[in-house]
Amino acid sequence: MSKISRLAPAKVNLYLHVAAPDVRGYHPLRSLVVFADYGDEVSLSPGQGRLTIDGPFAEGLSTGEDNLILKAVRRFEAAAGVTVNRHDIHLTKNLPVASGIGGGSADAGAVLHLLREAYAPDMPDAALEAVAAQTGADGVMCLWSKSAIAEGYGEVLTPVEVPSLAAVLINPGVECSTPAVFKAYDAVGRFEPIGADISGDVVAFLRTTRNDLESPAIALHSVIGEVFRSLEAYDETRFARMSGSGATCFALCDTREDAEKLAAKLRQNWPRAWVRACMLK
Ligand code: C5P
Repeated sequence: MSKISRLAPAKVNLYLHVAAPDVRGYHPLRSLVVFADYGDEVSLSPGQGRLTIDGPFAEGLSTGEDNLILKAVRRFEAAAGVTVNRHDIHLTKNLPVASGIGGGSADAGAVLHLLREAYAPDMPDAALEAVAAQTGADGVMCLWSKSAIAEGYGEVLTPVEVPSLAAVLINPGVECSTPAVFKAYDAVGRFEPIGADISGDVVAFLRTTRNDLESPAIALHSVIGEVFRSLEAYDETRFARMSGSGATCFALCDTREDAEKLAAKLRQNWPRAWVRACMLK
């Protein structure tokens, strides 16, 4: 088989409502997730099962068994009863790591699709989903990369129609540890109701919602607050929020053109930040 590849798109939490932790310390949540037309690239080509990585955020990423891609490969092998030894796996890491946009989970999801195609074409969706669920709370949503309301701990998905949204993603270059942000959230100990049904104009609706992890993430990394102030200073920004446990923030704009304009201004202001205009769907 020749090379096959797949986009591992960035995930954005348009809202993220987080309830009090359960007995295991995990948080039930409700979130509206959408996906960008931009992300990492994962490919399989003839080889022996090695992982290689390049791209702007490759540095510091392990190519060993602790890489989420190889964890997904091992779990796929166990589930499908196969050995992945006819292909090498290549990742082009375009998305910042530990940044609240699901890059690692998306990489795992993309490799699972490719492995099914190459090694187990009859594997049902439910079985692939069960493997993805083992890669983390975002594993299933990032396997399908389709807009959805996520409940449970992020794995119970209800598909939802969201209009295509022009957006800018900005990450100031701090890695946000998800467990640390959840811990800071628990330390405050104020938990609001997590229900929210999408209705009417998306931006008007989003103003009635929250990302509960925003304040604790800003308390840990004040630069996220500076990113917000910067996003809100520009006319092109209709709505600004942090995604996931941060530090990536997004601005919604009226048009793709506005998103490109805003991205250019942000690049001037934040020369070392990662900035990307995209469409979310
Ligand atoms: O599943 P994932 O590896 O993405 O989760 C990272 C950490 O985030 C967990 O170990 C847990 O501390 C926290 N988490 C949580 N509640 C969730 C999802 C993640 O407390 N619903």
